[in-house]
Amino acid sequence: MNDLSMARTAPKAGFDVNAVRRDFPILSQQVNGKPLVYLDNGASAQKPLTVLDAMDRYYREMHSNVHRGAHTLGDRATTAFEGARETVRAFLNAGSTEEIIWTRGTTEAINLIANGLAARLKPGDEILLSHMEHHANIVPWQMIAERTGATVIPIQVTPAGELDLDSFNSLLGEKTRVLALTHVSNVLGTINPVASLIKQAKARGVITVIDGAQAVPHFQPDVQALGCDFYMFSAHKLFGPTGVGALYGRKQLLEEIPPYQGGGEMIERVTFDRTTWNVLPYKFEAGTPPIAEAVGLGAAIEYLGGLDRAAMEASEEALLTRANELVETVPGMQVIGTAKHKVPVMSFKIEGLHPSDIGTLLDQQGIAIRTGHHCAMPLMDFYGVPGTARASFAFYNTIAEVEQLFTALQKVQRLFA
Ligand code: ALA
Repeated sequence: MNDLSMARTAPKAGFDVNAVRRDFPILSQQVNGKPLVYLDNGASAQKPLTVLDAMDRYYREMHSNVHRGAHTLGDRATTAFEGARETVRAFLNAGSTEEIIWTRGTTEAINLIANGLAARLKPGDEILLSHMEHHANIVPWQMIAERTGATVIPIQVTPAGELDLDSFNSLLGEKTRVLALTHVSNVLGTINPVASLIKQAKARGVITVIDGAQAVPHFQPDVQALGCDFYMFSAHKLFGPTGVGALYGRKQLLEEIPPYQGGGEMIERVTFDRTTWNVLPYKFEAGTPPIAEAVGLGAAIEYLGGLDRAAMEASEEALLTRANELVETVPGMQVIGTAKHKVPVMSFKIEGLHPSDIGTLLDQQGIAIRTGHHCAMPLMDFYGVPGTARASFAFYNTIAEVEQLFTALQKVQRLFA
């Protein structure tokens, strides 16, 4: 166990949202003279005290570089850092810590994989992704396609915001080399049926890459059960710090693909004639890694491990149910993304109102949401909108906050009616 981790006790039964909120100091403040209602968790989530304390303690008591020092602090830092890697491994149920690579976040992880797979791609090959991807799971593939002559092809989305499975079935074919899909849409909240799609893709030898950035704050994935080749997420959306994320990769593939960046730590031996690579996972970790951040991520996962996950997920579901019930109380409000299986994310527009005006007016009432294209321009084009307003909930949000959001939206709508 990580020296910095909380004692790993059995999760408390049940879920007391008010008790949980006390663990997040940032939530109990006033913004613009009103109690903060933080509903921008899809962009970045808040951090519990245990994360702040773990990072603080790491810097006060054990900071040094990892894997290098012939001294006690170096050993302490390495133990904490590698302990956090084990925590991530267990969270994802990966088979080995060799399969867990620290990255700066989801975006860097996808770039790492796209670059690593470039040598396998040739003109005519196809990279299948979906119309609901975040730019982070589109642009790196477009850049690799440009270099290799491969083509990026989007799976269609239904008006409700679900993956069009007929489109998937017709596009998955002889030329498909990579399937890169988001587990959960950051705009729509849709939970994609990735397990069955991975299975179909694997049957054809297609490499599967799953962007878990918006999934992990809401449920715990099992990469072995999913059967994917790669899975990535960012710590800051998982109640951990910014600047770090994790990439799971199947060991055999990680061994086959080349390193993403060169530098210290990722090498075994360097000469001017020939350089050889370090073993996994270090082969992909050039330079000094985000040590305190990794420790913070480990603490965030341990914090979540102390909660009753089923009760927490039920509480989140209740937030979305209440939000859905209240939509009709705001004249002209339309939800974008009405998939059957969703995490508590609600994108919407209100007739006659620009999303950014909605955001500004809500902020004046202490309510934080995100507005704009959400780094998903192709999806905005599909819905024929320049952007949406998006409320994205976390387990520490309350039904009262959902109701405050809708009271505020009614006010905004009346102001412009
Ligand atoms: N990808 C983040 C979001 O959806 C920033 O807001």
